[in-house]
Amino acid sequence: MEIKDIRYRVDVSKLIPFAAKVLTKYGEDPEYASITANALAEADICGVRSHGFVRFGQYITKIKKGSLAIKNPIEVAHETETTALVNGNNGMGFVISQKAVELARAKAAKSDIAFVSVYNANHFGAAGIWGSRLAGQDMIGFAGSNAERIVSAPGGLGRAIGSNPFSLAAPAGKYGNLCLDISAGAMAQGKIWEYRRLNKPFPPQCWLRPDGVETTDPFSADFAEFIMFPFGAHKGFGLAVMMECLSALLAGGPLNKEVPSLARDMDKPQLLSQFYCAIRIEAFRPLADFIKGAETIIEYIHELPVREGFPPVMYPGEPEFLSRKKALEEGLLIPETVAKEVLGLAEAVDILDGQEVFNQRLEMS
Ligand SMILES: NC(=O)c1ccc[n+]([C@@H]2O[C@H](COP(=O)([O-])OP(=O)(O)OC[C@H]3O[C@@H](n4cnc5c(N)ncnc54)[C@H](O)[C@@H]3O)[C@@H](O)[C@H]2O)c1
Repeated sequence: MEIKDIRYRVDVSKLIPFAAKVLTKYGEDPEYASITANALAEADICGVRSHGFVRFGQYITKIKKGSLAIKNPIEVAHETETTALVNGNNGMGFVISQKAVELARAKAAKSDIAFVSVYNANHFGAAGIWGSRLAGQDMIGFAGSNAERIVSAPGGLGRAIGSNPFSLAAPAGKYGNLCLDISAGAMAQGKIWEYRRLNKPFPPQCWLRPDGVETTDPFSADFAEFIMFPFGAHKGFGLAVMMECLSALLAGGPLNKEVPSLARDMDKPQLLSQFYCAIRIEAFRPLADFIKGAETIIEYIHELPVREGFPPVMYPGEPEFLSRKKALEEGLLIPETVAKEVLGLAEAVDILDGQEVFNQRLEMS
């Protein structure tokens, strides 16, 4: 069956305050609502649609069920000049992340390196947002999180470990940044929505059905019941295990099978653990030399020869850099399904001016 790809072209400068207003109406503190709206828009702007406004409804459902605390500031449980152990107090994941990033950067600005470990956290969306914000224009950023069990062990039957996403970012002058933002799974769960929306089969070696049979049919199980292949077999699996060490093991949070699911256990706090590391570049070499070197790496990557039929090689972070440029110049394209859900959530709390934000409906070719 042919599916029409309908989207709304949205002005980001209108979408962010609108979404913040909706979250505030659901009870969130206005500053925190603005942080969350900003981070969701950032994911969509960067083309990481699996972690943008497509998830707005999930967070609001959790707020309504009382399993995600609003207006809840983080607390520093213990700190040194270079470290902090932070209780996220089950607040909104984006708010916890933003505060942890600010803390890590402030410590690294003084002491050259900082590592902030967080427990009682929530889903922080795209890891790349936090790696990039940690890096800013003058540091290397490294951020990661554990997550509910969704990835199978190589050759394994059933759920073994979280997809445990992380990002590593460094400033790269005129090219934005070098930023690797990945999970340990073959495909992020949020991408299932897009495959369903466009009625496209999954690529092979991405998903198992709950009975352990590999599938390419995005409708062959409930959204939250698919089990991910690890990417690169033992490599992705090993990475997930080590990200669990850096996040939950260090922070003292729940491990693998103790972590509630975001989609299946809506009424339970997720109790995630995260880490935020910042390294001040000038502690090692002049910043200008580092940036020049990063630009040289990118120019080298761009000149790499490719085999026939393959596109030019991109640097990690380039798809997001290009997507951001396009979204800011031409407007953000939000799928109609997502637009309708956001509008419905707004109307449910008597915010009725959403049509001013979602006012340009397009049928993509
Ligand atoms: N919060 C969570 O629990 C959670 C869990 C899983 C994934 N995620 C997020 O989902 C998103 C997608 O994760 P994923 O594992 O599917 O990653 P992915 O396979 O989409 O890879 C993304 C990374 O690869 C780079 N990249 C993509 N195409 C490239 C190309 N052609 N050339 C060079 N580099 C390229 C991007 O710049 C980016 O760094 C990420 O933002 C991740 O943080 C979050």
